[in-house]
Amino acid sequence: MSDQSSAAEELRTARLSLRRPTEADIDAIFEIHNDPGACLHNPSDALARFEEAEELYQRWNDQWQRCGYGYWVVRRHGSDQQLGFCGIKPMDLHGRQVLNLFYRFATSAWGQGFAGEAAGEVTAWVSRRGPELPLIARVRPANIASQRVAIRAGLTRAAHLDAIGCDGPDWIYAAKLPN
Ligand SMILES: CC(C)(COP(=O)(O)OP(=O)(O)OC[C@H]1O[C@@H](n2cnc3c(N)ncnc32)[C@H](O)[C@@H]1OP(=O)(O)O)[C@@H](O)C(=O)NCCC(=O)NCCS
Repeated sequence: MSDQSSAAEELRTARLSLRRPTEADIDAIFEIHNDPGACLHNPSDALARFEEAEELYQRWNDQWQRCGYGYWVVRRHGSDQQLGFCGIKPMDLHGRQVLNLFYRFATSAWGQGFAGEAAGEVTAWVSRRGPELPLIARVRPANIASQRVAIRAGLTRAAHLDAIGCDGPDWIYAAKLPN
């Protein structure tokens, strides 16, 4: 394990702890991605079978090993309950390498500011220690909550980068764009 990855493995906010996923989180990966409400705007992310959650965990873990950062599991301090997931993944957008900011929370945890708090911490970590890449969020136009989370995390609307994603048009929010 690299120094960078061990430093990134746990992040903390006032209420939340963000940790690198382990195999013990696969149940929560399945439950959250098997809930149609949590995938309403991104049905291509929905998981129907438990084995798909095992495969998704493996991809998340592979990225942690490769990059030293990835998606974090979000919990309240002192609680074992997974509230959701938030993190970053390198990807290509219009031929440019970027970091994609991801967040998905259990529907039971919505509306308490958890996603905004977690995404803000991940964005701060990217500024402090992350790779020198633009940070983007791809948000479906009707997903108002996700747009608010992106703004709360410090991203701004970058309509010139809008793209077609797996589930239709994506609005792009961005930070750290080169001039
Ligand atoms: C998007 C999501 C992570 C937000 O989680 P959350 O913990 O409820 O978000 P927060 O409580 O931090 O709220 C963030 C902002 O969204 C607003 N918001 C939350 N739910 C909302 C809703 N249904 N409609 C409009 N605004 C909403 C909040 O008022 C808050 O606004 P503010 O920053 O102006 O105060 C959650 O709805 C989710 O997991 N959705 C499914 C997965 C998803 O769509 N991920 C994004 C893919 S791009």
